[in-house]
Amino acid sequence: MRALTWHGKHDVRVDSHPDPEIINPRDAIIKVTSTAICGSDLHLYDAYIPTLQAGDILGHEFMGEVVETGPASTLEKGQRVVVPFVIACGQCFFCGKQQYSACANSIPADNADMGQELYGHPMTGLFGYSHLTGGYPGGQAEYVRVPFSDIGPIVVPDGLEDDTVLFLSDILPTGWMAAENCDVEPGDTIAVWGCGPVGLFAVQSAFKLGAHRVIAIDHFPHRLELAKGFGAETINFEETDTYHALMEMTGGIGPDACIDAVGLESHGMFLDNAIDQLKVSTFMGTDRAHVLRQVIIACRKGGRVSLPGVYGGFVDKFPIGALMEKGLQVKSGQTHVQKYLPRLMEMIGEGEVDTTFLISHRLPLEQAPEGYKMFKNDQNHCTKVVLKPSMAAAA
Ligand SMILES: NC(=O)c1ccc[n+]([C@@H]2O[C@H](COP(=O)([O-])OP(=O)(O)OC[C@H]3O[C@@H](n4cnc5c(N)ncnc54)[C@H](O)[C@@H]3O)[C@@H](O)[C@H]2O)c1
Ligand SMILES: [Zn+2]
Ligand SMILES: [Zn+2]
Repeated sequence: MRALTWHGKHDVRVDSHPDPEIINPRDAIIKVTSTAICGSDLHLYDAYIPTLQAGDILGHEFMGEVVETGPASTLEKGQRVVVPFVIACGQCFFCGKQQYSACANSIPADNADMGQELYGHPMTGLFGYSHLTGGYPGGQAEYVRVPFSDIGPIVVPDGLEDDTVLFLSDILPTGWMAAENCDVEPGDTIAVWGCGPVGLFAVQSAFKLGAHRVIAIDHFPHRLELAKGFGAETINFEETDTYHALMEMTGGIGPDACIDAVGLESHGMFLDNAIDQLKVSTFMGTDRAHVLRQVIIACRKGGRVSLPGVYGGFVDKFPIGALMEKGLQVKSGQTHVQKYLPRLMEMIGEGEVDTTFLISHRLPLEQAPEGYKMFKNDQNHCTKVVLKPSMAAAA
């Protein structure tokens, strides 16, 4: 089969691989019909996430048709399914609490050590996201093996096109959980840093969960316009100082809850960003944490901080004083995708949530490297790239 593989910083290629096979009874093989490139994939493309190996197949946002099932899979051949990017067993202590992205049974023993060293506990398995998360081949491919297929994938009801449900694999539940983690109360003002796919779904979700106002922050005019389209007020951080603008817009109080939908690759000409960049490039640091710091400083006293944006290692100048003295609550994590799928599928079916607005580019799988380049270098207009393995490549 053909699949998109990582070969080094800014070097991804489509090459040939053996087709995946059933290994465990609960596995299924999916023929991928649509798969997307995520902001999280850019962290791999930019080589920020350790333990990637040349030849690893990327991709964690995908859906397709069931073509083979193990004896303990509950799926049936021919069904269309969306697959969560988190691989979870559905039976362990964590899955029992619906904390699927903490599942204890999806990280192979060989891959558990690094998470143990870095984070105090092994990570959970994710598709196509380095050996730190299990080294599972991803879904930017023609076929993919899906472990625990009786728990993860959700069957797509007839009549719903791929493009309307694909984002259930990650960014829609991620935006939803980011907003849910704000514990929205009536009258609340929620600020969202980053108007990428995650930020834009967080904006929609915050309103759905009862926010009175949402303020969206970015520097790309087109992405800010999309946020405005969902009713958000906006701040362009290149034109205005974000902290002062937020104080002015909230009568000096600050937002009730703040969402960091940016993560470790913050943009902008800020002193702390420049220092972080220098540290990262000299292997003395791991993350550019400008947004994380700003979120904590801007949040109102007694407010809530939600961090869907991915961070990988350690940061300095962390405003622990502000966090503690203002009594902030913090919630974070890779998304517990499986928990949210039934409700969000229903909302899509009822037209309550708009997903297709995000797709700026549909490309054949063979052109995935161009897709990565565009999503990295033209973020203003390139809001989401969807890859279609069955689409013929342009000459
Ligand atoms: N927790 C999870 O399970 C999960 C799932 C998916 C994605 N993510 C993470 O969420 C983050 C966003 O993902 P995405 O797909 O939307 O990515 P993206 O790269 O498309 O969007 C990030 C946006 O942040 C903006 N930004 C950069 N610096 C900023 C700053 N200083 N202030 C305000 N905005 C700024 C960028 O201009 C960009 O529009 C990434 O870190 C991604 O890894 C987490
Ligand atoms: Zn993703
Ligand atoms: Zn589990």
